Amino acid sequence: MYIVFEGIDGAGKSTQINLLKDWLEQNGFDVETVVEPTDSEVGKLIRKILQRPDATTDRIQKTLGLLFAADRMLIMDKLNDDSKVILSDRSFISSLAYQEPAEWIEQINKYAKEPDLVLLLDVDVKTSVNRCSKEDEFENEEFLSKVKANYLDLISNFNHEIIDASTGVNKVSTDVKKAVAPYMGICPDCIR
Ligand code: TYD
Repeated sequence: MYIVFEGIDGAGKSTQINLLKDWLEQNGFDVETVVEPTDSEVGKLIRKILQRPDATTDRIQKTLGLLFAADRMLIMDKLNDDSKVILSDRSFISSLAYQEPAEWIEQINKYAKEPDLVLLLDVDVKTSVNRCSKEDEFENEEFLSKVKANYLDLISNFNHEIIDASTGVNKVSTDVKKAVAPYMGICPDCIR
């Protein structure tokens, strides 16, 4: 099972992944977590480029698109491990939401693994910007508004659940568990 968390910066993906991981482990599952960009050499280069003042320009966005696809290729084996539940903070769906043009992003991610379930943590852009450290050029209101609209447009192409991520950590965590439970043979109504 490959479960992907998506959403704009500051939506709370990493917090929710950790809570879901603990809960799945309590229920006897073997869980592995993945974060994109990864901590590989390519991932480190990506993080450096994300801090450039021109990171949102078309030229740098396309460069990043290529690097994200390469970074993703490095974790293919990990994502294909069927013995575990893989929880991933982002996937090629982030590239579709953040980079363009869509057809080209699809092409360069042709070999990326399709998620079994996508959880889109949906939060309004103002909340997200306030939660961000403001280190990256991506974390500005105009850019993230476009990304949020892209997510809502493209998410129907995947097996997904949209989760309101503005309701507080505990409520969001309950909603995440309820979305995942049916895939794990756990009764969703038993979750409070
Ligand atoms: P990071 O600081 O880790 O953001 P977060 O904590 O929200 O995960 O950096 C990831 C940034 O990279 C984030 O702004 C989203 C962006 N990104 C893309 O633009 N395309 C991609 O394919 C991926 C995986 C991330």
